[in-house]
Amino acid sequence: MAGKVLLHGGAGEWNISKDEEERVKDALRKAVMAGMKALKKGSALDAVEESVASMEDSSVLNAGRGAYPNIEGDIELDAGIMDGKTLSAGAVASVRNVPNPVRLARLVMEKTQHVLLVADGAERLAKGFSLYEAFKLSTARKKRYTAEIRKFIGQKWIKDLPIAFEKHLDTVGAVAIDDEGNLAAATSTGGTAFKLPGRVGDSPIPGAGFYASNGHGAASASGVGEAIMKYLLCMKVVASLGSLASPFSVLKTEINSLRGVYGPELAGVVAIDSRGVPSVYTDTKAIAIGYGVADGSTRVDIARKEKLDELNTLLIRQIPG
Ligand code: GLY
Repeated sequence: MAGKVLLHGGAGEWNISKDEEERVKDALRKAVMAGMKALKKGSALDAVEESVASMEDSSVLNAGRGAYPNIEGDIELDAGIMDGKTLSAGAVASVRNVPNPVRLARLVMEKTQHVLLVADGAERLAKGFSLYEAFKLSTARKKRYTAEIRKFIGQKWIKDLPIAFEKHLDTVGAVAIDDEGNLAAATSTGGTAFKLPGRVGDSPIPGAGFYASNGHGAASASGVGEAIMKYLLCMKVVASLGSLASPFSVLKTEINSLRGVYGPELAGVVAIDSRGVPSVYTDTKAIAIGYGVADGSTRVDIARKEKLDELNTLLIRQIPG
């Protein structure tokens, strides 16, 4: 089977200018290429790590250097990775000054006996493997956040703060299948805008923000972590990917079911099943995706919800774009 990588740059409103759209699409294209390059000489696991690391480096998505800060202006990152062949997983949460938390998550998986390391402990591991590098929110972004936060002081309880600010930003993630049929998934994020220090969402929680299991499928989620983790969205998607239903209808059913419990516009997912069938669905206005197949065809898109039927057909037929 030809290897494939399917990634997302987040589910959200994606109400952005043409210039911003071009920058995002460029970042998605680079991430697809990084994943495809890794697939050529490595595994599905290498592909998801490289695609996600590329998006973390882009500075235009909510991950790595481009991530949302917390309410105090500090960037705290979460990421997770899973190998569908061994069902091994690694994750980090609330880490600062680690521009590529997905690489640290893989180290947790491969070099420790643990699954999830947080904050200072995770940062110490990063220092030991040259993954620690001090960085801060840019002055311009800090100014914009501070101004935005001021609007809410004295007017609303913390629980009413918006979960998005720069309308398009959310989590990034990738799923892949290699030519041996191994599946993998990875997800990385700065979390929701205006989060409290120490808040952790779904992205580093196996079964919530990511999951992979050979014979079933691999999934990576984007959206509001509080809903996704209570619903264990990726676990439910992957468990159903082995059923007779089409992958697209599995995603639709699970995301609509989450919507029924927690409300509208909370989640999007990308997935690949064990036969290599890709699928994308979101209950938000749109989702940014990138797709690459080992034969060389690639597609990037910021797909509106109402165009997802069409997008899924294009992906399955491997029509480039
Ligand atoms: N889905 C990312 C988060 O809520 O943290």
